[in-house]
Amino acid sequence: MEIIVLPDADAVGRHAAGIIAETIAAGPQPVIGVATGSSPLATYRELAALAARGLDVSRTTAFALDEYVGLEPGHPQSYHAVIDREVTRRIRLDPARVHVPDGSADHLEAACTAYEDAIAAAGGVDIQLLGVGANGHIGFNEPGSSLGSSTRVKTLAPGTRRDNARFFGGDPEAVPIHCVTQGIGTILRARRLLLVATGAAKADAVATLSEGPLGAYCPATALQLHPDTTVVVDEAAAAKLT
Ligand code: F6R
Repeated sequence: MEIIVLPDADAVGRHAAGIIAETIAAGPQPVIGVATGSSPLATYRELAALAARGLDVSRTTAFALDEYVGLEPGHPQSYHAVIDREVTRRIRLDPARVHVPDGSADHLEAACTAYEDAIAAAGGVDIQLLGVGANGHIGFNEPGSSLGSSTRVKTLAPGTRRDNARFFGGDPEAVPIHCVTQGIGTILRARRLLLVATGAAKADAVATLSEGPLGAYCPATALQLHPDTTVVVDEAAAAKLT
């Protein structure tokens, strides 16, 4: 695992965008994994700037990590809508090449299998961008998740609903209880992992994922199993590394 500590969130975004841009430029049919939440926003901003300056993203396919169950794709806080706003439109990806798990399918289990199949049919993910929850979750794989899991329905931890209440008018009860998320096994199948974290609230998770013992108590420790993982953090998020 390579850990890169930079002064602030903007520098983290610039560095992470540069790494993803290299993968996109290497083509010919790049597949990137994208995350929602606050952590990757600076990365998307920088990628958009690189695309505006000539990075060819026309053949890039993207797969999102997760989606809430029960929010229609048109709901402004559904991850369909968030990915469309923050990733597809900003970077000007081809919307037909951007995939988000279906959290409003009648048959969620079949939709999860179809999502795994779509990733495989695209040739697998070249680089997966990740944030980390304060509790160590990746995607919505909360503590206790199987390290070998595939895309499936999960229950959000109460702390995650509290953390994400800021997107739902401050009310944790308004945050859906269930989600569809790529599994930890799905994430580990990506050829390269790139985790970004900023701010003091992530310092414990960053220290544990990189130095703690491997285990489902902190799903992000699974990144230790991957031979090509880069963690890019600001000084505040790095504060508890030894
Ligand atoms: C969202 C996701 C989550 C977030 C994590 C951190 O697609 O995969 O694991 O990355 O909850 O969220 P922020 O960046 O908002 O602190």
